[in-house]
Amino acid sequence: MKIRTRIVHSCLIVAFGVGMTAATGAQAAELEVLHWWTAGGEAKSAAELKKMLESKGHKWKDFAVAGGGGENAMTVLKSRVVSGNPPAAAQIKGPSIGEWGAEGVLSNLDEVAKAGGWDGLLPPVVSKVMKHGGHYVAVPVNVHRVNWMWANPEVFKKAGVEIPRTWDEFPAATEKIQKAGFVPVAHGGQPWQDFTVFESIALGVGGADFYRKALVELDQPTLKGPTMEKVFTTFATVRKYVDKDSANRVWNQATGMIINGKAAMQFMGDWAKGEFTSAGKVPGKDYVCVAAPGTAEAFTFNIDSLVMFEQSSGDVRKGQQDLANAVMSPAFQEVFNLNKGSIPARMNMNLDKFDDCAKLSARDFEAASKRGSLVPSIAHQMAVSAATAGAMQDVVTQFFNTPAMKPKEAADKLARAALTK
Ligand code: GAL
Repeated sequence: MKIRTRIVHSCLIVAFGVGMTAATGAQAAELEVLHWWTAGGEAKSAAELKKMLESKGHKWKDFAVAGGGGENAMTVLKSRVVSGNPPAAAQIKGPSIGEWGAEGVLSNLDEVAKAGGWDGLLPPVVSKVMKHGGHYVAVPVNVHRVNWMWANPEVFKKAGVEIPRTWDEFPAATEKIQKAGFVPVAHGGQPWQDFTVFESIALGVGGADFYRKALVELDQPTLKGPTMEKVFTTFATVRKYVDKDSANRVWNQATGMIINGKAAMQFMGDWAKGEFTSAGKVPGKDYVCVAAPGTAEAFTFNIDSLVMFEQSSGDVRKGQQDLANAVMSPAFQEVFNLNKGSIPARMNMNLDKFDDCAKLSARDFEAASKRGSLVPSIAHQMAVSAATAGAMQDVVTQFFNTPAMKPKEAADKLARAALTK
């Protein structure tokens, strides 16, 4: 992160301020919350978070930084922390939680976690991500599944083809869809979206063990090997079936192409479902959710979570604890995730109000966990450090935008990028 020195300096200033102005007796506080939930379904979920905080008597100060995948938000966050003015809470995920924890700028949530019994409520795969050095420093709002394919059944019907279940079935189906006048794959040409599609292909072509070895353990021979070449070859096939206007298209516009029947399928995590839901579409009828080809038995997880930054005001600290508590409540986990498309992070929740896609996700999460095929999403900052993921994402995007690049060359480059610290 290379911001340690400056952060330590700014923390000293903050700490000095605590001594001088330590508040007594908690009152309503204004909490600034950084997030990037600005698309339809996302914004509805963020509004629920705001409502929940305000029901505890605090004030929500919205710090929304648009940009799917959160890259813009993370850039803005860094400059705010470096200047000694961090927000009270921020949506930060995966190994980045530990990176911020190591900077010594995060609040310890152990007390709230202990009182709320979080250890018993969260699956270990989730609680592990929320801790730094054995202490809770983050609270999870959900579990997203990334390896989904969102399909418009009407388009498939009109083209006279079945939804492909394997990557081998994919080219024949897409060819017919194109001939029938539809866009086979709705895609937005942005690096994080390219990487999202790529990881689902890696999972489908190579399986969970290959995925883990290559994209989590960063094993050099696996990254450079023949299976990775095949992954890039398949990625190049997908590129053939994306429309020419895809450059820079935001992800929810791509989802819109499935909703309005212009395109057949989109490879995207289940925040896409939030878009279908807010457009009033019904799963199984207007659209279908199926695992990306070849990945029905596996699950790439992406856990959204909030961290709290150390604050000098006692009222704000109390507000942070209330926020953390509220996020873990069953009521919040239900309403937030009904809008967001994800499933609750808490175990043993009643899913009656959830749709079939969410129920399938919950079942597959558990089954994959037992099978050993539950893997962290690299494109959504769950698998490796932000620096490493960023370097690898650059290679994937470069390949996608450079038809002349050979899969072997791309695999070699990916392996080199994986050495980035
Ligand atoms: C993911 C995030 C989701 C969703 C998506 C698109 O990284 O975990 O909550 O917001 O980006 O913005």
